[in-house]
Amino acid sequence: MYQLIDGKAISQQIKDELKEKVEKRKAQGEEICMAVIQVGSDPASSVYVNNKKKACAYIGIQSLAYELPEETTEEELLGLIGELNAKEEVSGILVQLPLPGHINEEKILLAIDPAKDVDGFHPVNVGNLSIGRPGYVSCTPAGVIQLLKRSGIEIEGKECVVLGRSNIVGKPMAMLLLRENGTVTVCHSRTKNLKEITKRADILVVAIGKPKFVDAGYVKEGAVVIDVGIHRNENNKLCGDVDFEDVAPHTSAITPVPGGVGPMTIAMLMNNCVEGVK
Ligand code: GUN
Repeated sequence: MYQLIDGKAISQQIKDELKEKVEKRKAQGEEICMAVIQVGSDPASSVYVNNKKKACAYIGIQSLAYELPEETTEEELLGLIGELNAKEEVSGILVQLPLPGHINEEKILLAIDPAKDVDGFHPVNVGNLSIGRPGYVSCTPAGVIQLLKRSGIEIEGKECVVLGRSNIVGKPMAMLLLRENGTVTVCHSRTKNLKEITKRADILVVAIGKPKFVDAGYVKEGAVVIDVGIHRNENNKLCGDVDFEDVAPHTSAITPVPGGVGPMTIAMLMNNCVEGVK
């Protein structure tokens, strides 16, 4: 029988720990304030931004919401980021992605002060992670590490395979598993003999962005499988990158979708806001 890794419960536990910390800091007169910027009204982004605001309110973090129109220019957005960088009372700045096509995403992410980059997307923070210096870490892969640790799954010395190489998930995931002394392989859509490699994994993290891509044929008996994907299937039901029904009976532990990695991203964003650069 496999262990179902409960991301909802673990994220709630993290948020409750943070809430307690924030209450103590407030008693000493310290306030935490995060700016959340959304440009345009992409419905999925609106849901994410709303959830981030709700999590801030729950934990006791002040959130400044900037809901800017689709026509906002790059210069205007850069201007706002400049102002927020300069405001001492703002400790975190988050620009919800994706941005409208006429705005250069890279230019925007580079403009955020790395010391306020709670998403961990600025090249300075990405670089710090890769050389083991303190810095903000991308929230989703940081959440995966917490899921493993808080489920009693050891990483040290394990064969870890990351399927996917995005800047937000795959690459920082590999760095974090390495930092935990895992033996890490990164594979992707162009990898040859993919199944041979994924079948070596004691811990398989899937972030390939294709619904139900991983079936039992990709997984070693008794492996731990973490599914970062989230999609809607033809019946409007949520599913991940892993075919859960097919894979779960072959694992020792697995995350469901929904209720696995998803809730961890916001919990780790809150953690970044509260803990600052670590
Ligand atoms: N869009 C999808 N995921 C994320 C995220 O983690 N942070 C931001 N800023 N935008 C996103």
